[in-house]
Amino acid sequence: MFKVNDNYLKLQGSYLFSNIAKKVAAFSAANPDKDIIRLGIGDVTQPLAPAIIKSLHGAVDEMADAATFRGYAPDLGYEFLRTTIMENDYKALGCDIAADEIFVSDGAKCDSGNIQEIFAIDNKIAVCDPVYPVYVDTNVMAGRTGVFDASSETWSDVIYMPCTAENNFAPELPKETPDIIYLCFPNNPTGAAITKDELQVWVDYANKVGAVIIYDAAYEAYITEENIPHTIFECEGARTCAIELRSFSKNAGFTGTRLGFTVIPKELKAGDVSLHALWARRHGTKYNGAPYIIQRAGESVYSPEGKVQIKEQIAYYMKNAKTIMEGLSSAGYTVSGGVNSPYIWLKTPDKMTSWEFFDYLLETANVVGTPGSGFGPSGEGYFRLTAFGTYENTVAAIERIKNL
Ligand SMILES: Cc1ncc(COP(=O)(O)O)c(C=O)c1O
Repeated sequence: MFKVNDNYLKLQGSYLFSNIAKKVAAFSAANPDKDIIRLGIGDVTQPLAPAIIKSLHGAVDEMADAATFRGYAPDLGYEFLRTTIMENDYKALGCDIAADEIFVSDGAKCDSGNIQEIFAIDNKIAVCDPVYPVYVDTNVMAGRTGVFDASSETWSDVIYMPCTAENNFAPELPKETPDIIYLCFPNNPTGAAITKDELQVWVDYANKVGAVIIYDAAYEAYITEENIPHTIFECEGARTCAIELRSFSKNAGFTGTRLGFTVIPKELKAGDVSLHALWARRHGTKYNGAPYIIQRAGESVYSPEGKVQIKEQIAYYMKNAKTIMEGLSSAGYTVSGGVNSPYIWLKTPDKMTSWEFFDYLLETANVVGTPGSGFGPSGEGYFRLTAFGTYENTVAAIERIKNL
């Protein structure tokens, strides 16, 4: 008789966003006349920029001609894209990353979930609390997280690093030494960012204790302040302790188009074993490359027109972020994030739990956000709104909340 991977049975509840979807569907069915505004899921709403569309069309035409048709893409990504990324995202910032240290993929969710496969099961992970749920759940599936304690909503073998108002939503170095440290800045869900000096402390710590940092920089394009690093490779010594995850989803609207990449420097080793070689092997065995058409579209994000156009899109979303921040502050809410990030993290009023506030907002303002407790115990009493809606919906949602 076959057996299942019973680590899957340890997973808690269903994925946060499916719970939200169910609640919204039930409310909508009961109140078909209500116009619900969704500022919950971190999905973009603006169409792909014209430079990207042009490049997609061009690549589709190439696929229609035997002379330019492409079959399987190279497992690790087309040279043209890896070189373009290297030049623009790393060399331009003075970071020493080679094109062959960049592994092109279909997005940061898959990479952030798959990367744990190259590490031993008895590695101890450290995560921020609250956290993007994928980091923890994929380690649960692998059997790395121990036993779940329902009362504290924590796993016995996970080191939690609380990110609260007291520490400005920036984690402190953990007391217990981890092997794998997940960091995400600018952060989802809190919208917090850390300075280059603060990130340097983590890099120095990881090098000192022999830990690896998995650095998720999916939101780097939203950084507006000067001293915030766009990549962990701006820090001295990151080449021996860091893996970086990047995405085209939030900077260029590829949430449905799918493209991302992971950077693993060749110096990053466990003893003599190169993580770069392990990931190359993993990628080569389990992945057949992001589509040519999509990689060409990714290349166009870095073209002169592409750069201008995606900058405008990001400015559009950041105008929404400002609208939310200012509107909620003026209504007496305590808000953070929203400056280097499209996420606004607000304290629930009147000691409401995150889910109580979710229901209250859905029922009274018909606005959907994300309960902070869905991202971890330290998210309780907080709520996330995203700037990814349309400007009109954002303004309308904030007006409704202000009028409550
Ligand atoms: C922190 C973080 N990493 C990764 C992702 C997923 O990115 P992608 O669309 O490239 O899979 C998200 C999406 O919301 C995210 O918030």
